[in-house]
Amino acid sequence: MNFKEHIRVIPDFPQPGIRFKDITTLLQNGPVYREAIDQMKALIKDKQIDVIAGPEARGFVIGAPLAYSLGVGFIPIRKSGKLPGETIEADYALEYGKDKLAMHKDAIKPGQKVLIADDLLATGGTIQTSIDLINQLGGEVVGAAFLIELSYLDGRSKFNGIDVVSLVQY
Ligand code: PRP
Repeated sequence: MNFKEHIRVIPDFPQPGIRFKDITTLLQNGPVYREAIDQMKALIKDKQIDVIAGPEARGFVIGAPLAYSLGVGFIPIRKSGKLPGETIEADYALEYGKDKLAMHKDAIKPGQKVLIADDLLATGGTIQTSIDLINQLGGEVVGAAFLIELSYLDGRSKFNGIDVVSLVQY
């Protein structure tokens, strides 16, 4: 399947110079969405995974169906102020802008093996911060899986020793 045919590229969004990879066109096509999740599942099939964690918001539409399909739990990593329980938070920088990410303090049991899933790996800032939060909670990040990887930004070089897989590369 040529997934790129289903990903719309929008120039100069959300700011000049960014070529935004719009996955809504892939998600709205049921068979293509399912095939993408199935192929991502195949990329991580040899890993021992206790839970999947995904960053808001687009990480949810990739991480949750993967977790469902594997029969493991899903942990939301949210932007600051959204989670109702006790949280830990960390600042992060994005390809454009910056924000704070948060996780519930009891989201992960110490020693659990965590796979991070997201729609897109750009600079790697989001995932680096997610790894920090998961490690603070005692989780062990066993890999990171992305629908799209912007290889020219080399985000994966930020996570030493963590296995990174992606379905589509630009
Ligand atoms: C996007 C994307 C990734 C992140 C990638 O999310 O979904 O999570 O940026 O960028 P990075 O590798 O440079 O950190 P965004 O923060 O725009 O949030 P959204 O999913 O809520 O749109």
